[in-house]
Amino acid sequence: MEKTELIYTGKAKRLFTTNQTGQIWIEYLDQATALNGVRKDEILGKAELNNQITSLIFKELAKKDIPSHFIKQLSKTEQLVEAVAIIPLEVVVRNVAAGSFSKKLAIEEGTQLTFPIIEFYYKKDELDDPFINEDHIKYLELATDEELIALKEAALKVNQVLIELFDQINIRLIDFKIEFGRKEDGTILLADEISPDTCRLWDKTTNDHLDKDVYRKELGEIVPVYKEVFSRLKNK
Ligand code: TMP
Repeated sequence: MEKTELIYTGKAKRLFTTNQTGQIWIEYLDQATALNGVRKDEILGKAELNNQITSLIFKELAKKDIPSHFIKQLSKTEQLVEAVAIIPLEVVVRNVAAGSFSKKLAIEEGTQLTFPIIEFYYKKDELDDPFINEDHIKYLELATDEELIALKEAALKVNQVLIELFDQINIRLIDFKIEFGRKEDGTILLADEISPDTCRLWDKTTNDHLDKDVYRKELGEIVPVYKEVFSRLKNK
């Protein structure tokens, strides 16, 4: 397996084609961004943690019959995935009020929600990834009605598995963001990453943030926090 051509450079990853058709080589980067890229820092050690955490989580999801684009981990900072065309939607699932939800609706952070709430954001840098509804998605032809139903079902299933996984390691899953992609045959697959960059994770005993909020809110160093999450997951 060899990587052939750089096809995409994102905020925290680079994607390469490989000599194997339909397989993409992802390289995680030691970079953190906030405010849609306005704040940017190099953080040594972050790439290997997010790659290893994402790989472990995608493997756990596969065990529970939730397929993803993940094929295998190639090295500490690299993984091999199936090629998909990413649907430009950030699908957010919330179990507990926090972040933009708390701000928008004036609901105190930490309030348990009575059911998981799904939100959609349109991945469009020029627009700062706006909050959109299902009619917007339909109008923009980002997904069909049937695909939207499938996306919501998959998001809730991922939520259930992640709640249980994190519960086993004394972590409360507050909320998270996932992305999906389409294979050439139209099949939709869970894609991108699931890591402390894309989830809110609170220690169940102390309520400490074990996620990117440590960086967003400038609460301290993120590497030791991400290491803690990885070590709990690995030793579960
Ligand atoms: P929010 O409260 O800022 O809307 O974030 C909700 C969840 O989605 C939180 O776990 C962080 C994650 N998220 C991302 O992974 N990427 C993003 O660009 C945004 C806005 C949120």
